[in-house]
Amino acid sequence: MKITVIGQGYVGLTISIFAAKHHEIVGFDLNAKVVADLNKGISHIEGVESKAIKDAIYAGNYTGTTDALDIAGSEIVVIAVPTPLNSNRKPDLSYIDSACKVIAENLKGPALIINESTSYPGTLRDYIKPTIEKYSKQKFDHQYAISPERVDPGRDDYNQKNTPRLYAGLTPEATKRTREFYSTFCDNLVEVSSPEVAEAAKLFENTFRQVNIALVNELAQISHALGIDVRETLDAAGTKPYGFMKFSPSAGVGGHCIPVDPSYLADVAEKAGVKATFIQRANEVNLDMPKYIAGRVEKDNSGSLKGKKVLVVGVAYKPNVADTRETPAELLIDALEKLGAVVTWNDPVVGSWHGNDSVALSGADIAVVVTKHDVVSAAEILKSAPYVFDTTGKVKGAVQL
Ligand SMILES: NC(=O)c1ccc[n+]([C@@H]2O[C@H](COP(=O)([O-])OP(=O)(O)OC[C@H]3O[C@@H](n4cnc5c(N)ncnc54)[C@H](O)[C@@H]3O)[C@@H](O)[C@H]2O)c1
Repeated sequence: MKITVIGQGYVGLTISIFAAKHHEIVGFDLNAKVVADLNKGISHIEGVESKAIKDAIYAGNYTGTTDALDIAGSEIVVIAVPTPLNSNRKPDLSYIDSACKVIAENLKGPALIINESTSYPGTLRDYIKPTIEKYSKQKFDHQYAISPERVDPGRDDYNQKNTPRLYAGLTPEATKRTREFYSTFCDNLVEVSSPEVAEAAKLFENTFRQVNIALVNELAQISHALGIDVRETLDAAGTKPYGFMKFSPSAGVGGHCIPVDPSYLADVAEKAGVKATFIQRANEVNLDMPKYIAGRVEKDNSGSLKGKKVLVVGVAYKPNVADTRETPAELLIDALEKLGAVVTWNDPVVGSWHGNDSVALSGADIAVVVTKHDVVSAAEILKSAPYVFDTTGKVKGAVQL
């Protein structure tokens, strides 16, 4: 089958290269540099090896393109484009809109259109289908389905093959064809009764994490005020063999999913007349963590950070990935600078960020660890400054969150 995947980022490239073992994949993206590199077999995504891209290219099963005309003749089109929040922290479906336009203007026959991008329940039925129909000059009887992506970049125990995949079509025919497609490379397919269930389940998975992370971050603040070690408390609670799931305190939440997806659920809830109070409160707690941490660091350093050289260690939003989207390091740097600190950062995995390069892990008055990559040694972090504050629990000997 000829399959187009719209968007060649974390989700789109991952699915493209897995599916290329069985199908002819056209990887469409608007970013010409990304596409040029992909066609040379160079990966820009952790978890997708350059060798796997080269193998797919040599097998004649993968081509990257910026030319929308190349999607003509596709039997399946997978949408994997960003679904961020706008400046009012409301769903921004502009990338989905532009993907729908590309599909409408370039497919020359009926296809199965599958959305893998994360969005609120009703997006497939009430937004994607009507938008494609609105932009289509020729009317084709497209089929529509959803299969929200669950990829967790940087982990190798779960991948496209063994991660259970939810799916549902708008029609039984769409559901059947979606099952047939994913069963060529995924072992565990879970059919649900409607696209809305699949869309809601995906949002709830990430909302569950967001709320629990906020709860444990609140516990970190309570524990510190009471003089109790929060991580020991969590380890103790974790000895209960049922009814408890351990989350760890941190500088906040980052990445494309956890800080964003719950707001999609909150927005659709509010439109349906339900106040999503947990989600809003969890957002506030997580977004306030960097300020709380900066305050703790200030207090420990004679109550002033004015002119102090502060090194933020690890600006990626999680260990062993170069992804800085929505990283709490950004808010922490802001909070530290507002208190008068002179802030630099070290992150050899990220390398360059906001036009600045990672600096040496040394010579600071204060170091604050946001993310601890495996390639950065705890001993080196401890030597980087006389005072080290650790939000990760991985730098023993540092002041702990
Ligand atoms: N990254 C993750 O871990 C993850 C996990 C599960 C679900 N998701 C969801 O998957 C979706 C995609 O996320 P991602 O992380 O892959 O994003 P990404 O930013 O890594 O990649 C998106 C790609 O789409 C391209 N693009 C944007 N508009 C386009 C268009 N109209 N036509 C063609 N290409 C276009 C961009 O250039 C970019 O390369 C989002 O809805 C996200 O919430 C992401």
